Amino acid sequence: AQKPVTVTVTGAGGQIGYALLFRIASGAMLGPQTPVRLRLLEIPAGLKSAEGSALELQDCAFPALESVEVTDDPARGFDGANVALLVGARPRGPGMERSDLLKANGAIFGPQGAAINAHAAEDVKVLVVGNPANTNALIASAHAPDVPPERFNAMTRLDHNRALAQLAQVLDVPVASISNVTIWGNHSATQVPDISHGILTGPDGTQGSLVGALAKAIGSAQDMAQWFATTFIPRVAQRGAEIIEVRGSSSAASAAAAAIDHVHDWVLGTGSSWTSAAVVSDGSYGVPRGLVSSFPVTSQQGSWHIEQQLEMGADVRERLEVSVNELVEEREMVRSLGLI
Ligand code: NAI
Repeated sequence: AQKPVTVTVTGAGGQIGYALLFRIASGAMLGPQTPVRLRLLEIPAGLKSAEGSALELQDCAFPALESVEVTDDPARGFDGANVALLVGARPRGPGMERSDLLKANGAIFGPQGAAINAHAAEDVKVLVVGNPANTNALIASAHAPDVPPERFNAMTRLDHNRALAQLAQVLDVPVASISNVTIWGNHSATQVPDISHGILTGPDGTQGSLVGALAKAIGSAQDMAQWFATTFIPRVAQRGAEIIEVRGSSSAASAAAAAIDHVHDWVLGTGSSWTSAAVVSDGSYGVPRGLVSSFPVTSQQGSWHIEQQLEMGADVRERLEVSVNELVEEREMVRSLGLI
């Protein structure tokens, strides 16, 4: 029998939580053979909703689900956690300044980082979903000095998946035939989708350049470049706003699916393609060391490796600089607020 894995979900009573818990419990995240112990961490206002989900989880009779516990005590919530999904966050209210937003989230992610440091399992892996995700991950990590910073990630997998889906639609190919697409930088409007290394695998297994296939589908290399800058990038970067407009509330099931994908690949490994995840920078590609920024990554044996020595066009480089500057500014702001 496999060892049970303790998975803590914060904001478990919210809408992403509701889409996430059942997939974790069904085995989609860690494999159907891995027993899961769920800890649902909420604030008092969200406890009832989380308790309702706990009842429904029971009713699903998932074979892999060993136990579910609901709590508003971070020490209990993170006790023995092997995987922590930090979903609960303070959303930006009307007229709220960025510094107020960072302050409000610092008050959540600082103490949660400290509770993870004190109570989580030694091998804990943390994925921050709650926005501003990259900087929230930085704050949590700063309060967990005993946990290697490599184990605090922020989620850009939803942006990555959105990019794959848009490309598949334009090319009229299965989404799985597209690989080596990257989201660089911050999970924000400045994120940098990059298809320059993309590969398209045909039905017969032959591999070709994604950019070449797109140029063919769109008309010419020039039209493709135009489409990429004026249609594709805004479509991916502003998809969250589009979902809010159409659905009436923000992405939940797709965000949960991306969180499942992220942790699945982190723990169980990536295949032949890389994926995108915001991880602590080691200085690769000029991203200042210590920032949590999205990179092309592969995972083996439970740790991410940043793909090295990819050629970067001037356009991607310029966009990445803007996104990284935003991360630097956020880091300076949380420093000056005494949050890290
Ligand atoms: P929601 O408002 O439905 O749920 C949030 C839940 O977090 C609430 O139940 C609330 O009580 C709880 N919460 C607040 N503070 C908490 C704390 N200190 N400890 C534990 N729980 C706490 O929000 P939703 O739609 O589930 O989204 C959650 C977050 O995910 C938001 O910050 C949103 O911006 C972010 N998000 C990130 C995406 C990404 O790609 N990285 C994509 C979509 C959403």
